[in-house]
Amino acid sequence: MARKELMNKQKKFGQYFTPQRIALALVDQLNNPITKVIEFGAGDGALARAVYERFPNSNYIGIEVDNELYTSLSTTLESKQKLIKANAFHEHILTKYSELSAADTIIGNPPFITTIVTNEIKDTILDVFPSFDCANMESIAAEMYFLCASIRRLKQGGQGSFILPISFLISPKYSGFRHDLISNFSSIIVTQLPVKTFSNAEVACCILSFCRSRERRQKIELAIADLNGSIIDKIEIHKRHAVKRMDYSYFKFLKDLNSVNSTPVGTIRSLNVEVNRGSASKRKLIDSNLEYFHTTSFPENSRAISLGFNEVSSFRHARTGDILIPRVGTRCLDRQVLVAEGQKAFTDCIFKISAEEKDLDIILRSLSSKSGKAWRINNAQGKCAKFLSKSSLLDMPLFID
Ligand SMILES: C[S@@+](CC[C@H](N)C(=O)[O-])C[C@H]1O[C@@H](n2cnc3c(N)ncnc32)[C@H](O)[C@@H]1O
Repeated sequence: MARKELMNKQKKFGQYFTPQRIALALVDQLNNPITKVIEFGAGDGALARAVYERFPNSNYIGIEVDNELYTSLSTTLESKQKLIKANAFHEHILTKYSELSAADTIIGNPPFITTIVTNEIKDTILDVFPSFDCANMESIAAEMYFLCASIRRLKQGGQGSFILPISFLISPKYSGFRHDLISNFSSIIVTQLPVKTFSNAEVACCILSFCRSRERRQKIELAIADLNGSIIDKIEIHKRHAVKRMDYSYFKFLKDLNSVNSTPVGTIRSLNVEVNRGSASKRKLIDSNLEYFHTTSFPENSRAISLGFNEVSSFRHARTGDILIPRVGTRCLDRQVLVAEGQKAFTDCIFKISAEEKDLDIILRSLSSKSGKAWRINNAQGKCAKFLSKSSLLDMPLFID
């Protein structure tokens, strides 16, 4: 197959295969014996091999939509392992396979792609996570559907372990999902994986493992693993905090904050501020022949800059006394600068904070403190390119280091 064709297929089906050591780490989260394990999206069999290595007597049933992967994996499976060629979204066809039910274990690294929301998809998701607000969504993360379609095939008391985007655990969009997860599932562990886990894509993801039963225990374990899948550190949080977020980085950050001398004294929101992103893309500003401020314009070390007195047309622009910070970017989110003089249009990758003069110093000192930088990095969302939401920025504590 030509390289371009292969890349298109990879993108279309989200074919990013789990490194074997991470597949083993995922299976090692399963504490109970396995009689029957189901996997949607078997790929090249990384999880099937890991299951066989740890539980050689288990029955494995995988499904895979891609003809070539199906053919090559079928020839390498062990005798108690079976592969079905089918589309995970075709529930009406899957129900014809009686073996695709009543599993005691479900596993997966679903494709990280978006899909149009059909009634069938909506019903499947709401059946498992009724508080997940997807009623008005036109498209949805396929990972959520794969997770729910698998859970529907899991017996009460059964166990699951999945690679999922970290956004499921931190984004306000998924708070309903988290609510139902902590209410109806037990032994929940979220293990954050390094962004370079997959060789051909940088993604912020985690392993979520759980049992399908309620529990009295009010704690959730949050861990962080290295590229070998070995756990480097773990902490426990109370379930009442987990609807807001349930990722290691954030809670570790808060824990460290409590143990150093950083005292939060309110939030940016508590001041009289206005926060706006740029009104035009970089491309649009280039096409308009205007000088512009972008994420690449931040100075390395200086606290303030002069923007020069530029034409700004009708675009949103920064002026003397404004503070600029990056809104988007993986490597520059910890920057900030005060406009000492001048005016310039800025791109939609930038936030402008306009505040009263008396508050400029505390805002700037907080943004440039270690804790302030860590806050923004820990609150950045997005599977690949990271972005900071306006509400996360407004919620940033003002620190006196
Ligand atoms: C992220 S890969 C993971 C593969 C394998 N489970 C692993 O961990 O390496 C997702 C897999 O799901 C398959 N897939 C994508 N869409 C599918 C669908 N609608 N039905 C079944 N499998 C699908 C892809 O072809 C791919 O093999």
